[in-house]
Amino acid sequence: MTMSQARILPLRTFDAQLAIPGDKSLSHRALLFGALSEGLTEITGLLASADVLSTWACLSALGVKIEQMGETVLVHGVGLGGFLSPSAPLDCGNSGTTLRLLMGILAGQNFEACLVGDASLTRRPMKRVAEPLRQMGAKIALREGNFPPVQIQPATLKGLDYALPVASAQLKSALILAGLFAQERVTLRGEIGSRDHTERLLPHFGVNLHKSDGFLQIEPGQTLHAAQVQVPGDPSTAAFWLAAAAMIPGGRVEIERVSLNPTRLGFINVLKRMGAVVVEEMTVGNPEPLGIVRLQQVPLQGTRVYAHEIPDLVDEVPLIAILATQATGITEVRGAGELRVKESDRLEAIALNLRAMGAQITLFEDGFAIEGPQALYGAEIEPFHDHRIAMAFAIAGLVATGETRILNPECVSISYPEFFDVLSSIHNGAMTPCVF
Ligand code: S3P
Repeated sequence: MTMSQARILPLRTFDAQLAIPGDKSLSHRALLFGALSEGLTEITGLLASADVLSTWACLSALGVKIEQMGETVLVHGVGLGGFLSPSAPLDCGNSGTTLRLLMGILAGQNFEACLVGDASLTRRPMKRVAEPLRQMGAKIALREGNFPPVQIQPATLKGLDYALPVASAQLKSALILAGLFAQERVTLRGEIGSRDHTERLLPHFGVNLHKSDGFLQIEPGQTLHAAQVQVPGDPSTAAFWLAAAAMIPGGRVEIERVSLNPTRLGFINVLKRMGAVVVEEMTVGNPEPLGIVRLQQVPLQGTRVYAHEIPDLVDEVPLIAILATQATGITEVRGAGELRVKESDRLEAIALNLRAMGAQITLFEDGFAIEGPQALYGAEIEPFHDHRIAMAFAIAGLVATGETRILNPECVSISYPEFFDVLSSIHNGAMTPCVF
């Protein structure tokens, strides 16, 4: 790998036991909730990636002491009223989770704050978070009414009863967190079915959160208490290796300590529907179920992915497109319009790069259709600085003819800095084979 290009060659066999780094969503939340707690929170397995470091840096700028002690990260909680007024804009880097969750946390403070990000984050929509926060009394200004920088003025928050119009865990979490600072109850209805890490982890910090069929409620006046958090492996990271093993003849993979949170298992469910033999073995489970995932390759069939499934596999859609090229029949994904407002317009990025590799794809406003099997040819891949596009097309390169070159591969540091090193080890046959 050079600094600005990663070269991927086809892989004939894939048989590996792997451990993967910690879950990104949980890592952000463990740091944030630790900071909002009374006492010392101990986190093991925290993902050391650029996005998580953005959250860490923002919390430091708010006066929270966070330190690494061997394998453990210690967060010296300041409680709900303990943040210091930041002396400069808070830089959220590339991280939508950092920016949106901090909007919820900072909306009800008695100091001003400004949230900024990189070029990609500066193009992402924030009105969806600002609007309900304003209904609570927050004073938030956005560039052109929708984009960062986000300027937040001091405010006192009242309650909220709000139907979420989009299934976004970042939006849902921002409003739950604002509820911790509100003077009245916050009730959320509508699209509340996105990943539920906030709902699982806040009670671990002593917060009482009421979840019933169709709504979520948080009462005012609560305190967070420091906790120990073991962050399991990230299922969205595991997905790259599952996809690789699922496409390479005779492929087998075993991945340890993966989060088996049901709101993150959409990709595994799609793999099963496409015919792959996938078995999950749950081990321990508090606050998140986790365990071993094993996959054995068999020829894949096309499938249809419906709108209601998207929240549980939203980050894995690029991989589904790659799998679709190797499966027999049509794979159609619909209801995935949210991909257009991720770190890049992921639907455009998928189509452009698959076409560069010689594949045919029909693109819709909210998804795509791909008829397989189709041969892929090594090409130059433009990931648009989007980590998931870079990694998904590196996996495509493993089943392509010839060499695939990923431009600006360093963007993988957002969620999986070791990705290309692990890939090299697999190529060099340095991995322990599976025993199942
Ligand atoms: C995340 C939620 C998802 C996901 C993102 C992380 C989170 O976005 O794409 O990578 O940690 O809450 P949504 O807000 O669209 O659910």
